[in-house]
Amino acid sequence: MILVTGGAGFIGSNFVLDWLAQSDEKIVNLDKLTYAGNLQNLSSLTGDSRHYFVQGDIGDIQLVPQLLKQHQPRAIINLAAESHVDRSIHGPEDFIQTNILGTFRLLEAVRTYWNELETQEKQNFRFLHVSTDEVYGSLTLNEPAFTEEHPYQPNSPYSASKASSDHLVRAYHHTYKLPVLTTNCSNNYGPFQFPEKLIPLMIVNALTGKSLPVYGDGQQIRDWLYVTDHCSAIRRVLEAGIPGETYNIGGWNEKPNIDIVKMICDLLGETYPNSTFQNLITYVQDRPGHDRRYAIDAKKIERELNWRPAETFATGIRKTIQWYLNNQQWINNVQTGSYREWIEKNYTGIAQ
Ligand code: NAD
Ligand code: DAU
Repeated sequence: MILVTGGAGFIGSNFVLDWLAQSDEKIVNLDKLTYAGNLQNLSSLTGDSRHYFVQGDIGDIQLVPQLLKQHQPRAIINLAAESHVDRSIHGPEDFIQTNILGTFRLLEAVRTYWNELETQEKQNFRFLHVSTDEVYGSLTLNEPAFTEEHPYQPNSPYSASKASSDHLVRAYHHTYKLPVLTTNCSNNYGPFQFPEKLIPLMIVNALTGKSLPVYGDGQQIRDWLYVTDHCSAIRRVLEAGIPGETYNIGGWNEKPNIDIVKMICDLLGETYPNSTFQNLITYVQDRPGHDRRYAIDAKKIERELNWRPAETFATGIRKTIQWYLNNQQWINNVQTGSYREWIEKNYTGIAQ
């Protein structure tokens, strides 16, 4: 079996569903269920003995060793993290706790467990750490995309905490020979993404007639990847990646934010032809330290592991919008409590 951390979050729940759709290998899913963890994402697995959910913290030094001992996973996929840049600007503490300290404690527990495995299991074991392109910093318009050799230049507390965790993972390979794999992925979108991130926020706000807050001039560029493509890349790296190596994952889909927002408005307009969604676009104060452009050079994973994304942005964004249209109850359920408080704190002065 494999142990997935953060498997009730956006990418994690897609990964768990995707994995169990292709394989009968069991998953132990360790998730703290922060505001971003949502077991409703996994409701289709109710009663499925291949999925074993445990609520807990990756930094719990009693729980994690006990889980490893009990379940003897052949691999760990570490997705658990605080993931939202704006939240890291308002309050970095949780990012330091989970992304740095949590990853460190998880690595320590895994190192002890791995050291006690028999030779063959020890050789086959993998610790796959899921990271982000944000650790590479920001690009100007004409600079080449990030390769795996690009220096780390994180600019936000979020990306700095992810960079720290990547360095720890790297060090555990170099020093202790722990068989680690690191992936650095671009912006994901798709079903189950919490509506604090650009794409789901715009869809959800448009559907309820709220303003569509575009930071700064809206010309910042991100490289978008449909979430199931990220899941297939993780599976491929786990299967064939070389321990100690890092692999960039991207969608070859660079787009300015404002183009994304306008595209969402146009596509929603196909379902609601009488609505004027574009009138809701509101330019707001920029994110402090806002990275201008991310772009992933994903040639290494294509060349060495024969992986390419299956979705284009045109197909992925249609699927995503349709999913949100079909899952209004999911939207209603996440739009409570801490989510509402967060919206008020981050977007003060904007009509919601
Ligand atoms: P998310 O915020 O949707 O989910 C994170 C999950 O981790 C939640 O279920 C949460 O409950 C859980 N969690 C948080 N702290 C925990 C802890 N201490 N112990 C156990 N569980 C904990 O995040 P996501 O967007 O699904 O991202 C998953 C991973 O992928 C993160 O490591 C993120 O840095 C990375 N990543 C995300 C993107 C993206 O575009 N979303 C792109 C590249 C990499
Ligand atoms: O690049 C990978 C990263 O992508 C992941 O590591 C992060 O976990 C993930 O959150 C994401 O970070 P971003 O900051 O790029 O994503 P976000 O959806 O927050 O913002 C995307 C862009 O849209 C960014 O330039 C900021 C802008 N934006 C965002 C929000 C929420 C707006 O203009 N308005 C908004 O309301």
